[in-house]
Amino acid sequence: MKFNTKTIHGGQEHDPAYGSVMPPIYQTSTYAQSTPGGHKGYEYSRTHNPTRNALENSFASIENGKYGLAFGSGLAAIDAVIKLLQPGDEVISTNDLYGGSYRLFTKIYEDFGIKFHFIGMENAHRIEDYINDNTKLIWVETPTNPMMNIIDIVVASKISKKHNVLLAVDNTFATPYLQQPLNLGADIVMHSATKYLGGHSDVVMGALVVKDEKLAERLYFIQNASGAVCGPQDSFLVLRGIKTLHIRMQRHCENGRAVAEYLNSHPKIEKVYWPGFENHPNHNIAKSQMNDFGGMVSFTAKSNNYEEAIKIVEKLKVFTLAESLGGVESLAGHPASMTHASIPKEEREKTGVVDSLIRLSVGIEDEEDLINDLKQAIG
Ligand SMILES: Cc1ncc(COP(=O)(O)O)c(C=O)c1O
Repeated sequence: MKFNTKTIHGGQEHDPAYGSVMPPIYQTSTYAQSTPGGHKGYEYSRTHNPTRNALENSFASIENGKYGLAFGSGLAAIDAVIKLLQPGDEVISTNDLYGGSYRLFTKIYEDFGIKFHFIGMENAHRIEDYINDNTKLIWVETPTNPMMNIIDIVVASKISKKHNVLLAVDNTFATPYLQQPLNLGADIVMHSATKYLGGHSDVVMGALVVKDEKLAERLYFIQNASGAVCGPQDSFLVLRGIKTLHIRMQRHCENGRAVAEYLNSHPKIEKVYWPGFENHPNHNIAKSQMNDFGGMVSFTAKSNNYEEAIKIVEKLKVFTLAESLGGVESLAGHPASMTHASIPKEEREKTGVVDSLIRLSVGIEDEEDLINDLKQAIG
């Protein structure tokens, strides 16, 4: 199956009971047994639920993996990956990453004796400088949130394989429509399914996809043992969202390009971060590992101050000032005070997350309305 067919049919079967085309929402915590252990494959919904299973099969299909796992949030999915590790293990992570991932790593797992190295990976060969006998995981986010840096997944995977270390890629910004990390050599792909996979800003959910059976078994064990699963209603919503992922992403990319180009030509705008520009430092890597450049765009105004950035986001009308991204509606965020506030200012600013930075999740509204909205807000 090609990708645009997989979003609709990948891993799906019509329901055996009545042939319903969409899987029923099995809103049940438990399943009747005829005798202890005598059941139809489902015992308890933390472990398995038919609606969640349909979604997990869809995750596996669209990422070209074999095993999909759904969690109660993106962070719960990341948490399950870190639980593969032991005290004393080390992780090499992108230094420009979602603030909540940074908070989980530094404020929870460092206390459990796991060591994190946060490094710039724009030159992915640098990863190798930080590898030692304790290194167990490389954590890559690409494009990064919010600076839109691009990390070469093939180079990272060659290093991970050479040193027998797992490579996990947070594919939230790109989605499998644009980039399929398992095809490029990653071991684990992770999503905040809250974003483009769900696509309608109505669900919080996380996903993992792997190819290796042993790794899948370990992650399924953690999923059940730690229990951070999602419910059947949310599983249904994300499954429905995935069915239009390809057409939504096509429009996100078109509108993202139009917005990035508009901002780039605006006399009051200092810098626009979008991997589709030829002068983006890793534009060629983006071109080789992604099918297009997505709908996320960050920028700073020439005035370069906090108050001006706040004024712009407050004036926007079509773009809603809100956390999150990846929904059909356009959102604007101020990373320094919102999504990335959990990263200390000095750390944040080292990677470019300055007080004047604005991040846009460009939705699928009419392009002209989006541009006019930016025009009136920037002035
Ligand atoms: C790139 C990225 N990874 C992970 C997460 C965490 O996902 P969730 O909010 O679903 O827990 C987010 C949330 O914004 C994100 O943007």
